Amino acid sequence: MYLDPQSLAPSSSPATPAPRPLRVGMIGIGTVGAGTFRVLARNQAEIAARAGRGIEVVVVCARNLARAVDVVGTGVALTNDPLLVATHPDVDVVVEVAGGSGPARDWVLAALRAGRHVVTANKALLAEHGTEIFAAARQHGVVVAYEAAVAGSIPIIKALREGLTANRIEWLAGIINGTTNFILSRMADAGLGFAEALAQAQALGYAEADPTFDIEGIDAAHKLTLLAALAHGVPLQLHKVHVEGITQLQAIDMVCAERLGYRIKLLGVARRRDDALAQGLELRVHPALLPATHLMAQVNGSMNAVMVQGDAAGSTLYCGAGAGSEQTASAVIADLVDVARLAGGAPTQHGVHAQPIAAAPAPAVLPMAATRTRYYLRVPVADAAQGCAQVTQALADCGVPLQTLLQHHEGPGGVGDLRAGQRHVVVLTQVALEADVDRALARVAGAAGVHGAAVRLRVELLA
Ligand code: HSE
Repeated sequence: MYLDPQSLAPSSSPATPAPRPLRVGMIGIGTVGAGTFRVLARNQAEIAARAGRGIEVVVVCARNLARAVDVVGTGVALTNDPLLVATHPDVDVVVEVAGGSGPARDWVLAALRAGRHVVTANKALLAEHGTEIFAAARQHGVVVAYEAAVAGSIPIIKALREGLTANRIEWLAGIINGTTNFILSRMADAGLGFAEALAQAQALGYAEADPTFDIEGIDAAHKLTLLAALAHGVPLQLHKVHVEGITQLQAIDMVCAERLGYRIKLLGVARRRDDALAQGLELRVHPALLPATHLMAQVNGSMNAVMVQGDAAGSTLYCGAGAGSEQTASAVIADLVDVARLAGGAPTQHGVHAQPIAAAPAPAVLPMAATRTRYYLRVPVADAAQGCAQVTQALADCGVPLQTLLQHHEGPGGVGDLRAGQRHVVVLTQVALEADVDRALARVAGAAGVHGAAVRLRVELLA
């Protein structure tokens, strides 16, 4: 039967009044807060059309009120009391973009208890106190949305919660810290030193207030904690993430990696294991070698990328700016639009429940020794031939299969703080158990002719 589209047009109905705008209170008007305010103002009409109603900032909490006026003008109420915003009677949703995890916990809990929805970019807060915060949100029938907390502009929370919801996630791996990716890219491509590259990242507003969180891998661990909970249905368990940052990386390893056809990235990995050796979840943040031809290896500067392997979808890859003012604001506002669309309904019916899903039974986090992957090893030696023999023997004795072996000989000047003329044995292994690699390295450390500590980095093929 032919269906006349005209017949589907609604018959003339009385005009319904426009729904009232969603009223926002903001705690923090720094890099992300200012970006949120600007984008909300600039794209007001588009955002209102998509949300079904306007989104209006009615009150802002700032430490520096004079500077806040420069950002928001005089039409918005200003305060320096975060709790006043959290419980303000004219506010429907509190945007927390102040950062930090101690006081922010109190503000967010106060907002939830007062029946306000919360949108936050605060990964540290949720990784540390998320269990309590999501429980409070459930109890009070409101939403805690946190797209901006992970990977900046990339809608990875939405992808995991909605787009990939049919899948059993086998693994996910991400470049989820913009600062370290910026530093590694500048070191590899522009020959910058670590300190200079970090200073540039700070000047661009990518780094955390305490950049230790970035360079020591803690920020990436916060984000991985949130991703793993969503992807694998495990509790938020920051303390179980194995964390290594980039401060111990040496320039020579970036050179050797490149010579072998790899790039070094700080990676967060949450991989389900269900094999003869282990059942559980690998949960780790560390520098890793990626094949230079892999798309993830080409994600440079402050860009982030997350690759997800689902049993039905296969591999999907999400890439975008991982930090920055309007880039992160884009995710904050996406959450605000989701909240605006709730229109008084129950959060779970509208798919905006941002709580990690508790699957039963959740896989336990595996010890690092149970990790199975490929490895890059570099051993400084006195004599190349003798060194090669010692390293290959130790690997064979410990059941670590070898893939590639090369000798690296520093030219005059050396690389970084290594002395000129130093020789190294550089090895790529096939897939091996980390415990076996540790045993092999312990043997090598005791061998005559080994000149200094061996370096061990993990290699991820992401295939
Ligand atoms: N310091 C963080 C980063 C900001 O560099 O990725 C965004 O979370």
